[in-house]
Amino acid sequence: IQWFPGHMAKARRQIEERLKLIDVAIELLDARIPLSSRNPMIDDILAQKPRIVLLNKADIADERITKEWIRYFADRKLKALPVESTTGKGVKEITEAAKEKMADKFAAMGRKGIQPRAVRALIVGIPNVGKSTLINRLAGRSAAATGDRPGVTKAQQWIRIGSELELLDTPGILWPKFEEEWVGYHLAATGAIKDEILNSEDIAFYILKYLIREYPKALEERYGIEQLPEDTENPHEVVELMEQIGRKRGCLQSGGSVNLEKASNVILRDLRTEKLGRISLERPSDFEAL
Ligand code: GTP
Repeated sequence: IQWFPGHMAKARRQIEERLKLIDVAIELLDARIPLSSRNPMIDDILAQKPRIVLLNKADIADERITKEWIRYFADRKLKALPVESTTGKGVKEITEAAKEKMADKFAAMGRKGIQPRAVRALIVGIPNVGKSTLINRLAGRSAAATGDRPGVTKAQQWIRIGSELELLDTPGILWPKFEEEWVGYHLAATGAIKDEILNSEDIAFYILKYLIREYPKALEERYGIEQLPEDTENPHEVVELMEQIGRKRGCLQSGGSVNLEKASNVILRDLRTEKLGRISLERPSDFEAL
């Protein structure tokens, strides 16, 4: 989807309307990029409801960093849970957390101890974060269309999850917000936005710099590199590494020089298919100031 201001205003209005129908908002984020996969422009309306944050794709994120994010959200009075929608790990905890949120709400209204009905919830998230996969996993059947490309979720009904949870069957689709360059790179590197929007060499260059700093062992092992650049701020050193990787992977063009576009695609494919291991692109310590 191409998001224009008109689309954003419409998506916002639709979510606001549907929030009136539910008890708990479930904000689905990508555990590898919890800030980039969030939409701060919708925060004010989500804040009107009890909310749970899910860090999805926890299976491919760095476990230690995911724990740091859970603390980060807890410090901001938000309950966050790690989830693996594809395997189902962490999924049953969602119903428990939703029930707790609703019990808190009833307690605040002075009606303690009774759970009058199933908790009604709405899942919201940016494209490709795993909304359909999670709904299917919760429902235990193929209830929503899933796809590998952004933008598959289309056309509202309730889906009953056991006797304790009811979901609006169409999740709320949020637009990714990438005013800042790094957000765009993170969204593109994880497949949340299409590759064509940004140049793959730029994305790979940015990611490589980050990997040299944060995951040097993964690079050394995957590409048999002996000496990684020491100064990631020196673009020549980073490009040299990219060339080294390209040469090892046979990404050559006529004349024998390295085709950097192909080398970039190798790096991005390896990242997305977990060949570099479990990688988180954002850590709370980088963003404490935000
Ligand atoms: P739209 O329909 O575009 O809004 O996407 P969506 O948010 O409904 O995402 P969808 O469920 O289609 O999942 C997108 C991709 O992420 C699919 O390839 C899923 O298999 C994958 N995916 C979803 N959840 C997980 C997870 O927990 N772990 C991993 N590794 N992949 C996941």
